[in-house]
Amino acid sequence: MNPTGWPPRRAGVGSAAIMEHGMASITNDFYETIEPRLHRQIASALKSAQRIVDLGCGHCRLAGFLAEQNDHRHVIGIDVADRGFPRDGEFGGRLRCVRADARDLAFLGSNTVDAVVSLYALHELGAPVASLREARRLLRRGGEVLVVDFPSGSLAQRLWNEPYHSTGEVADLLRRAGFVKVRARRTACRQLTWARAFKPDTRRGAR
Ligand SMILES: C[S@@+](CC[C@H](N)C(=O)[O-])C[C@H]1O[C@@H](n2cnc3c(N)ncnc32)[C@H](O)[C@@H]1O
Repeated sequence: MNPTGWPPRRAGVGSAAIMEHGMASITNDFYETIEPRLHRQIASALKSAQRIVDLGCGHCRLAGFLAEQNDHRHVIGIDVADRGFPRDGEFGGRLRCVRADARDLAFLGSNTVDAVVSLYALHELGAPVASLREARRLLRRGGEVLVVDFPSGSLAQRLWNEPYHSTGEVADLLRRAGFVKVRARRTACRQLTWARAFKPDTRRGAR
């Protein structure tokens, strides 16, 4: 991620209109514009999850939003960099941010969380399959991983030109990490990959 280019400038375009009706010309502030709605969509997708890990949480905007949604929910944000973590005690003590590498989360127990989410971070994780395997270890049987990231060839490519995965590659990474029921699609005017998958529900597949 280009540190000088993130986050992009705020714009006055209605995010709902963009997400629902598409947009002929996508402006450079597109990703910031859609963020509030995107956070709501992620919260809706994970509405029944009470224990959530956010991999590559950055400043914890999504993790904090998820923690605020539900008084019984606990969220752990993981990031290799701790700049921008919220102060202790914010979000009613339901959010804990930890500086750690997504590849090695040994301080978290196996089968302990309902959902793992990763927003705009998969492409930055040095070893995505290892990180996704670690996410799978944390999840309870049948638990869900939700990956949202910039696809190759999207506006993000033009803005920051990082090595993004195609939507098909994200699905493949999830399968290689042992997830099942993998569903990956493009959304938000095709400027995002939205990929869901599950930890196998059987004792054998859940190892
Ligand atoms: C583009 S930012 C996205 C931050 C946040 N999820 C958001 O939506 O704004 C990607 C984040 O991934 C983090 N990151 C990169 N490699 C990581 C790793 N191996 N383990 C954990 N976090 C990592 C970076 O420090 C950065 O904060």
